Amino acid sequence: MGQFCKTVSLGITGASGAPYALRLIDCLIKANVRVYLMISKPGQVVMGMETDLKLPARSAEIQRFLSSRYAAAEGQLQVFGQDQWTAPIASGSGVADAMVICPCTTGSLSAIACGASRSLLERAADVTLKERRPLLVVLREMPLSEIHLENMLKLVRMGVVMLPATPGFYHRPESVNDLVDFVVARILEHLGLDQQLLPSWGMDNSDSS
Ligand SMILES: Cc1cc2nc3c(=O)[nH]c(=O)nc-3n(C[C@H](O)[C@H](O)[C@H](O)COP(=O)(O)O)c2cc1C
Repeated sequence: MGQFCKTVSLGITGASGAPYALRLIDCLIKANVRVYLMISKPGQVVMGMETDLKLPARSAEIQRFLSSRYAAAEGQLQVFGQDQWTAPIASGSGVADAMVICPCTTGSLSAIACGASRSLLERAADVTLKERRPLLVVLREMPLSEIHLENMLKLVRMGVVMLPATPGFYHRPESVNDLVDFVVARILEHLGLDQQLLPSWGMDNSDSS
């Protein structure tokens, strides 16, 4: 582990919600976490549609680009290709402390629920499950079918934390960034990291009655 407080695998798939993923990378880097990043092809497409980021195509270039953007330390942000089976997270011996899939498609949810392991992202999730490490799934879809709900239930019963991208409004968000931070704050909390994005419930309650 060395200079970093923990290692988190982050899978970005092609569900709507790329801003959540970018904010999460930002917060993890600032929290001195080492990030192993995988982005599916549809994830790159959606990122291009939902943000102004012009992500390069190749993993090594994405790594350089995002490391510079988020001021990552040497080796802190490592980007792996979807067929890079030599990546540490392809094996139980290199498993990260936790894995987050954010945002997660119903397609990736299904592949993970049946152990398909066709891509590094799916394999890393499979390894995370078999090694009994925390797996957080930030699903984004509406409405949900019986297939989606059954897949979610199957994974939750295995200990997966299902964190659908459903921001609350009780903190009076004033911007899209506030909504994004709501979801990212909950992810950080579940990773056991301090977060200053959102006060914990009851901690900013000025009503003293
Ligand atoms: C703009 C856009 C938004 C999408 N949003 C969602 C979504 O919110 N949830 C979802 O499950 N799929 C969504 N999809 C479809 C997935 O990208 C598609 O099913 C893809 O094959 C998923 O592959 P992946 O899980 O490997 O990324 C979206 C696709 C596009 C182009």
